[in-house]
Amino acid sequence: MKTLQKWMNKEPDVLDWSYATKIAAEIEGCGVKWEEKEEDVRKRIKHILKCDTSNENLTDPVILRNADCVFSFCVLEQISENLDAFHANVKKIALMLKPGGCLLLVSELIATHYIVAEHKYHILNHDEADVRTALQNAGFTVEQWEVIESKIRNDNIYYEYVLFACAVKKRDI
Ligand SMILES: C[S@@+](CC[C@H](N)C(=O)[O-])C[C@H]1O[C@@H](n2cnc3c(N)ncnc32)[C@H](O)[C@@H]1O
Repeated sequence: MKTLQKWMNKEPDVLDWSYATKIAAEIEGCGVKWEEKEEDVRKRIKHILKCDTSNENLTDPVILRNADCVFSFCVLEQISENLDAFHANVKKIALMLKPGGCLLLVSELIATHYIVAEHKYHILNHDEADVRTALQNAGFTVEQWEVIESKIRNDNIYYEYVLFACAVKKRDI
């Protein structure tokens, strides 16, 4: 959170995330400049909040209005100890959305672990069918689904595929 705040404030020793903005600008085309994209994102951010799935209200003590969209990038499979916890966490994300709201989910599949500074962290060894079931049980309908094979082959992380899904909340659970 401190790092994000520093990025918002354009502090000098901040992490450089421009490699990602440059890719986004290139995909958009039409002469979009990556610097302008970063400024646009800065202007749109209203709060930087801690999100903890072990709370009933994920952003406790702040209560947010239900959102149009939640983006979850390689988090749920890393923080869910088992498939039951994954299902419960997907349901908690669903509670953050308005009916008709959209979950953009990026998830590593058939995975084991990742290593940061010699600490080894688990990744849930789940597959496409597990994610589809979790989404369905949480009241989502899948609108887009793309799976690509991982090209990373080293000891620091192991996952075989990455899923990119767009799921719309059709009903409350
Ligand atoms: C490997 S990172 C995910 C990648 C990250 N989204 C990114 O874009 O770089 C795993 C994240 O899960 C977060 N995390 C750990 N326990 C959590 C919990 N109970 N609720 C929500 N997030 C948690 C950690 O803070 C960490 O940022």
